[in-house]
Amino acid sequence: MEKFYVTTPIYYVNDRPHIGHAYTTVLADVLARFNRSLGKDTFFLTGTDEHGQKVQNAAEKHGIPPQQHCDETVLRFQELWQKLGITCDRFIRTTQEEHKRVVREVLQDLYDRGEIYKADYTGWYCVGDERFFTEKDLVDGKCPECGREVTAITESNYFFRMSKYQDWLIDHIKNNPEFILPSFRANETLGFLKKPLADLCISRPKSRLSWGIELPFDTDYVTYVWFDALLNYVSGVGYRTDDEKFKRWWPASCELIGKDILTTHTVYWPTMLKAMNLPLPKTIFAHGWWLTGNQKMSKSLGNVVNPMDMIERAGVDAFRYFLMAEMSLGNDANFTEETFISRYNSDLANDLGNLLSRVVKLTIRATGGTIPEISALNDDDKELNAAVDAAIAAMSSSLENYKLDQGIASVLNAVRAGNRYLEKCAPWTLAKNGETERLHTVLASAATALFKVAVLLAPVMPDKMSELIAALGGTGNVPGIAELATHSGICGWVMKDVPPLFPRIIEEKAETAPAPKTAKAEKKAKAAPAPQAGLPGIITIDDFKRTELRTAKVLKAEKVEGADKLLKLEIELGSELRQIVSGIAQWYTPEEMVGKMIIVVANLQKAKIRGVESNGMLLAAKVGDTLSLITPDKDMPSGILVG
Ligand code: MSP
Repeated sequence: MEKFYVTTPIYYVNDRPHIGHAYTTVLADVLARFNRSLGKDTFFLTGTDEHGQKVQNAAEKHGIPPQQHCDETVLRFQELWQKLGITCDRFIRTTQEEHKRVVREVLQDLYDRGEIYKADYTGWYCVGDERFFTEKDLVDGKCPECGREVTAITESNYFFRMSKYQDWLIDHIKNNPEFILPSFRANETLGFLKKPLADLCISRPKSRLSWGIELPFDTDYVTYVWFDALLNYVSGVGYRTDDEKFKRWWPASCELIGKDILTTHTVYWPTMLKAMNLPLPKTIFAHGWWLTGNQKMSKSLGNVVNPMDMIERAGVDAFRYFLMAEMSLGNDANFTEETFISRYNSDLANDLGNLLSRVVKLTIRATGGTIPEISALNDDDKELNAAVDAAIAAMSSSLENYKLDQGIASVLNAVRAGNRYLEKCAPWTLAKNGETERLHTVLASAATALFKVAVLLAPVMPDKMSELIAALGGTGNVPGIAELATHSGICGWVMKDVPPLFPRIIEEKAETAPAPKTAKAEKKAKAAPAPQAGLPGIITIDDFKRTELRTAKVLKAEKVEGADKLLKLEIELGSELRQIVSGIAQWYTPEEMVGKMIIVVANLQKAKIRGVESNGMLLAAKVGDTLSLITPDKDMPSGILVG
């Protein structure tokens, strides 16, 4: 049986997990679930990196021993992974005895074979990154990685003869184009390898750092945290402890990393493996970073996204879906609440959720819920089936090419094809006309398409897709993609009417932004009879006068940071200056707004929109994708009452 072994970086237990950690782990989980679904023998390893300066510092800050700090912090990761439905086969902690023993044995073996030697060394040390740099590595005398101050340190240390593998590594990267992906990252490593490679300092004197694995051949030292951590990928699958297991899984099929830890994984790690006489992983895949408002997330900027907030808002599966669908693998992606909600509402609430509720309702109306038989197929049915087949093929190839977002996009295309199919075949008309055979074929074809879509998306949204299949009348046991070809089909299943799978999220919007209207709501509004005085919803002139509308002149306009749709306007109302926030950035640039005369609701209660104060609301009309400001059609001073 083909095997698939996937790993994530192991995370430092110095802080609580954030979206970056959640992303890599969900990605690994999705890859593992897909590969299981494709029938491959799969192992998924994740865990925590518990030694080194960062963890020691964090423990000191909390005034507790480092092991206690690790034991407490690790729970945050484990709880989040449980919440996120992470199906790892092993969660490794580098403070586990078994791992420590493997590290010591590897060190001793390399030392005995002359791969590790002792030497005096003077270098520039960055405490934050726990790394030594040479003079020429420094940028403006500061750490080339993080820009912080570095300190000159001379000490005796142990070194791994990494330099001797430089040519071999260059050849390996060149001869194995799938070793470092995306390929531009391979070029980055090859660029790094143009300079002579130094040997790697793999020890830290205990006088400077005590929280680490003691060197077996010199008890005055502990192991450099990266040398210890990288070995988790082999110790986690039985290296030197369980030969059979190790043989079964190593080399890894895919090691997922973030782009910031490329050098350690594509230079240190392969040379370590070479010295250990072990084969290299097939692929090391470096993904991009999640940014917020196009900025790097950092604690000091206070813009770190906490996965729990989004999970609470929309549920675990929607969060997993967003992470997978939004980031094109390898590149950076932007996380904002707006993009999250807008993707949720369009892909999940509108497209997928809608298709399910339409199919279920129509089928219950037509047959009482039993999925009927499919008879002769016409071109519309064939077109729908082709869209689903294309999604199945795209999903498999996107997995192989690490283009998951594209695979997901093709599944959503199939969902949209399903909605178009219903519009076109109009089962409600078929029912009215008594065209039962055709009606049955349409309903069963749409349900079958949904079923296959659920199988394809199950690795991304396991619980929701299981619910979807249960709504179609399945047991909730989601079959694997590999089983689709031979699946006996879903005709005869009895559907259940369920609440919406993905209830729409009502966005907290800038006051002016018109509430998003569904086509249905718009139709309903058009069809509504003309209002009559005295009926509910009708106001008197006095009611209207309670709203104070005034002309206002826009003096200044700028975008609201981190909110794509919002503009902050400084407006003049006669002698008064005010600030309002308005959701018009998609339609008007700040430059276009300056100088415009607008109409505002002047007596609206003040509000904070994305943390920015808004004192009033401007008037605009929107139809479809067009938004138009309401402006006086003659020259008017600002502050004039409108009514
Ligand atoms: N402990 C090391 C890894 C050792 S692996 C042998 C480490 N840990 S970490 O906790 O700092 O980071 C783990 C991963 O999170 C890295 O792959 C990093 O790229 C990723 N991310 C951290 N912030 C991120 C984003 N904002 N977006 C995406 N991933 C980011 O490094």
